[in-house]
Amino acid sequence: MDTKFVPGRGILRSGLATRLKALRPKPSQVFVVMDRKAEEVVGRKVVLAVKDAGWDVTVLLAPIGEARKTMESAERLASQLVRQGADRKSLLIAVGGGVTSDLAGFVAANLFRGISWGVIPTTLLSMADASIGGKTAVNLKEGKNLFGAFHFPKFVVSDVQMLRTLPLREWRSGMGEVLKTAMLSGAGMYRKLINTTTAKLQRGGVELGELVGQCARYKQKLVRRDPLEGGERKLLNLGHTFGHALETSAGPRKLGHGEAVGLGLLCALEMSVEQDLCRASYASEVREFLQQNGMKTRFPGDVPSKRALEKLLLRDKKASRGRLDLILPVKPGTNLLVQGVDASEVAAGMRRYLG
Ligand SMILES: NC(=O)c1ccc[n+]([C@@H]2O[C@H](COP(=O)([O-])OP(=O)(O)OC[C@H]3O[C@@H](n4cnc5c(N)ncnc54)[C@H](O)[C@@H]3O)[C@@H](O)[C@H]2O)c1
Ligand SMILES: [Zn+2]
Repeated sequence: MDTKFVPGRGILRSGLATRLKALRPKPSQVFVVMDRKAEEVVGRKVVLAVKDAGWDVTVLLAPIGEARKTMESAERLASQLVRQGADRKSLLIAVGGGVTSDLAGFVAANLFRGISWGVIPTTLLSMADASIGGKTAVNLKEGKNLFGAFHFPKFVVSDVQMLRTLPLREWRSGMGEVLKTAMLSGAGMYRKLINTTTAKLQRGGVELGELVGQCARYKQKLVRRDPLEGGERKLLNLGHTFGHALETSAGPRKLGHGEAVGLGLLCALEMSVEQDLCRASYASEVREFLQQNGMKTRFPGDVPSKRALEKLLLRDKKASRGRLDLILPVKPGTNLLVQGVDASEVAAGMRRYLG
């Protein structure tokens, strides 16, 4: 829970060195886990930064992609760590997107019943969301993130300069979570986001650093108040019950997680409008924002049948007996947790909103 968050631009070397030197107890050795892509784009920088701080570093490769965020990959990584001489005082640093931090964090949570770890996120989604909050997990055949643990990293060093090489699709994916956070956090951040574009953020001005920092700090605030998701932290699921159902139905190639969250946010807004909870102009403004930023506002392909959607909605971890808990937006900064909503009505609504 006492994660130190170090955001900024061009701060990788200094930020990491400071955090490493401040660690108590002092780590016996440092392992860096990254996928091949992250290694290609930031690997050298990270290794130099660790060496700068006075440690030798052993680099281990993580697999690329959601499909390999599995127990098998975790076991392989854990075995490699043991073979390379890891002990209880070793430090693991996950470098890359949310797949790498979820996987490496899960290994850190379990190896020797828990070793220290830190994160250097290199995707927008991970900077704004996945690296914050101590949730670690791997996927099971039966569903995403079903096997995991809470294990808080000692530090998160977020240098937005590392986003320079990020492909457009990954930017869009991250924007889904940034939009979600803006809708949760309040009018200040929401207006700032609505008035900018992905293209502008990609150029990497001050705005980008500010937005990433705001997202992470907002999530950290909720997590501090409710670390194990007993209450308030549930707000972070805004758009996700709808989004997960759409993501599973379309498959990851057609609909990335953040894009699915974008569609999920639209569904939540449309439902709020139907129930007179929010103004129609809020929903249309968000729809326009998604369109302007090249994100999806319709389901790619035929919208799944009501039955299929209902079944997918009920797989949500929070669903029981045909009923769902949903978060419905009222205005930026005000969102309602509505319990026991009939899943078949939600499914019918989604078909109206996305068709
Ligand atoms: N633990 C949490 O709280 C939490 C929250 C949200 C999402 N997640 C998880 O995060 C994962 C998604 O994360 P993601 O979107 O970062 O995906 P990802 O980790 O798969 O990264 C996306 C792709 O970008 C590449 N990449 C990373 N950094 C790059 C860079 N700087 N330049 C170019 N390419 C780069 C990666 O190699 C990968 O191919 C999902 O598994 C999701 O479940 C976890
Ligand atoms: Zn998400």
